[in-house]
Amino acid sequence: MRELIFATNNKHKLEEVSQLLVGKVNIVSLADAGLEGEIPETADTLQGNALQKAQWVWERTGKDCFADDTGLEVDALGGAPGVYSARYAGEHCTFDDNVNKLLAAMEGKTNRKAAFRTVICLIEGGEARFFEGRVEGCILTGRYGEGGFGYDPIFMPDRYAVSFAEMPLDVKNQISHRGLAVKQLVNYLAN
Ligand code: IMP
Repeated sequence: MRELIFATNNKHKLEEVSQLLVGKVNIVSLADAGLEGEIPETADTLQGNALQKAQWVWERTGKDCFADDTGLEVDALGGAPGVYSARYAGEHCTFDDNVNKLLAAMEGKTNRKAAFRTVICLIEGGEARFFEGRVEGCILTGRYGEGGFGYDPIFMPDRYAVSFAEMPLDVKNQISHRGLAVKQLVNYLAN
C-alpha cells in the first residue's frame, strides 16, 4: 500500500485522517518517521502553511508526505480567526482559550455564520499539490458535546442540529472540511 508521512503533531487530526484513509494509504506519523519538534507555520494563508508543514517533512526525509492547515472563518468577524485560528487567544494558548475568546467576540452577534476551511498539501517526488475542503455552519452560543477537538463544541454544520463535538467521528468525517479535502486527495491518488 502507498505510504505517506502526515506532517502533524495533532493526535486528533491523525485519528480523523487515519480513519478516512484506512485500506487506501498507509499513514506514517511523525513519531514513526523518527521526526520530532515543532513544525513551523508562519505563512499568512492556509495554503502557505500547509506547504510549509509538508516541506518541513520533505526536507528531512525526502519521502512523500502531506500536511493540512485549517481555519475557522467567521462572517461577523470579517473572516477571523481564519489562518490565525490556532493562536487566536495568543502564542501558547489552549483549545479552551481559543473557544472562550471566540464566544466572547460573538456575544450579542446575530449573524453567526461561519465556515471551516482545510487546505491539504501533498508533496510527491518533490512536487506540491493542493486539495481543499470547506463546510458552512454557525457558531453556537455555548459549548455542546465532548468529542472532537479545537472549535468543534461551538460549531454546528448546516443541515445538522448538533455540534461537531456531538457527532461520532465517522459522521464528522463525512461532511467536514478535512473529510472533504481528504476525499479529493484520495481521488487524486486513485487516478
Ligand atoms: P491548524 O490546522 O492545526 O493550524 O488548526 C488551526 C486551529 O483550528 C487550531 O486551533 C485547531 O485546533 C483548530 N481546528 C483545526 N481543525 C479543526 C476541526 O476539525 N475542528 C475544530 N477545530 C479545528
